[in-house]
Amino acid sequence: MKREEIVIPAADIARQRDFQEKIKAMFAARQAHPAACVETFGCQQNVADGQRLMGMLEACGFTFTEEAREADLVLLNTCAIREHAEQRVFGNLGILTHSKRENPEQVIVLCGCMAQEERVARRVRESYRHVDLVFGPQALWRFPELLWQVYETKKRVFSVADEHGGIAEGLPVVRERGVKAWVSVMYGCNNFCSYCIVPYVRGRERSRDPRAVMEEVRQLVEAGYKDITLLGQNVNSYGNDLEGGFHFPELLEEIDRIPGDYWIRFMSSHPKDATPRLFDVMANCPHVAKQLHLPFQSGNNRVLGEMNRRYTREKYLELIRYARSVMPELVLTSDVIIGFPGETEAEAMDTVSLVEEVGFDALFTFLYSPRPGTRAAELPDPASREDKQRWFDRLLEVQNGHSARIHAGYVGKTVRVLADGESGDEAFPLSSRTEGNRLVRLKGDKELIGRFLDVRITGSNTWALYGEPV
Ligand code: SAH
Ligand code: SF4
Ligand code: F3S
Repeated sequence: MKREEIVIPAADIARQRDFQEKIKAMFAARQAHPAACVETFGCQQNVADGQRLMGMLEACGFTFTEEAREADLVLLNTCAIREHAEQRVFGNLGILTHSKRENPEQVIVLCGCMAQEERVARRVRESYRHVDLVFGPQALWRFPELLWQVYETKKRVFSVADEHGGIAEGLPVVRERGVKAWVSVMYGCNNFCSYCIVPYVRGRERSRDPRAVMEEVRQLVEAGYKDITLLGQNVNSYGNDLEGGFHFPELLEEIDRIPGDYWIRFMSSHPKDATPRLFDVMANCPHVAKQLHLPFQSGNNRVLGEMNRRYTREKYLELIRYARSVMPELVLTSDVIIGFPGETEAEAMDTVSLVEEVGFDALFTFLYSPRPGTRAAELPDPASREDKQRWFDRLLEVQNGHSARIHAGYVGKTVRVLADGESGDEAFPLSSRTEGNRLVRLKGDKELIGRFLDVRITGSNTWALYGEPV
């Protein structure tokens, strides 16, 4: 598709603002003060979407509540990545029948990745009749219009057509207070890893204009955000759809020039597109955190092939070697799937051995979950649940031992951290993050939140470090 067909015209976005005004006026005429309860599931991308949805709700006159029962509108921004994620949402939807019975005027909205699945939309249409509005990620920018339709027609509204997906600039946003912010640099995914639902629900890859991204980061830095994460399903494909050879490393370099005291992070990277140039840029840019989330999924080349990942174990190890050669302090994390259809014990142990060989600072480990509509869901899957669980436990044991050892290595050292909130731990009441995004619980006063500090690490376990300001 042509770029001009992907970027949503400013006039169409402006029209959404008219719907926001209409909804606001409708509540004002009733002298109502509507409250919305918004719950987001899934990845940071979805969290970023949730903040836009809240921005649009705020513009419609809503305030926010944590209590679904008290809310005039309940919105579930869903995730489809594993079966468990979907079950949780159906569970929540079931519970909402009660609040709807108590308050028949309550509007229930289902959006996000699950809503884009035909199977889910059909099930909601037939069996969850209390849901008023259903739309997928591609229709997110039209939320005010869809919501207006619900209020005006009093009918259920579904907007779940399979779309390429656009780019909407200038949507309102409600961010978390504090120091962390998310910035999407691109949307969608073209990779079709055989196990993954994301390309089906998030449409095709499309990159935001670099000027829009830079402007957003600049505003965030000026507003005091200090830990900014650039988001995309595969940020290494950033710019493939832009003219002029402007790719992710160039974007990082440009952002790094923005003056201020802040860290820039990014996720996720795909090993097939990660290059030495990316690592050189990371090493040379002072604002870019020396932290890399590089999912490898499996340590076995046959399984990687079946997953359609398009790199090998050897290529992955080579990338890590290079990255560490230019950034010796690099903090490295990854995602892994155990129990892909047809995976044998020996193949799963190749994954364990890769984890031992690399020594990740932390790992996000998943048991394979079949996603209807993906290629892997059609493959024979002979291994038993018990066997897969055993392999999974073995992997966790290796990684937990490793995380504990790496963390123990920090004890006695002084590191720079950003205090980002309260920890809930009485003895170490502050929570903070290192440049590598390791969690450090701190002694100290609330006043320190939002500041960069030098701290001495005094203790550690598998999941966190403990310290005090020097
Ligand atoms: N775009 C990101 C990943 C997004 S999904 C990337 O490619 O790195 C986050 C993680 O969920 C994936 O890295 C993968 O490890 C896991 N995942 C995706 N589909 C899955 C499935 N069907 N079953 C189990 N884990 C899955
Ligand atoms: Fe899914 Fe692969 Fe795309 Fe990541 S790169 S979102 S795992 S298809
Ligand atoms: Fe889930 Fe959609 Fe993210 S499926 S992991 S919320 S892209």
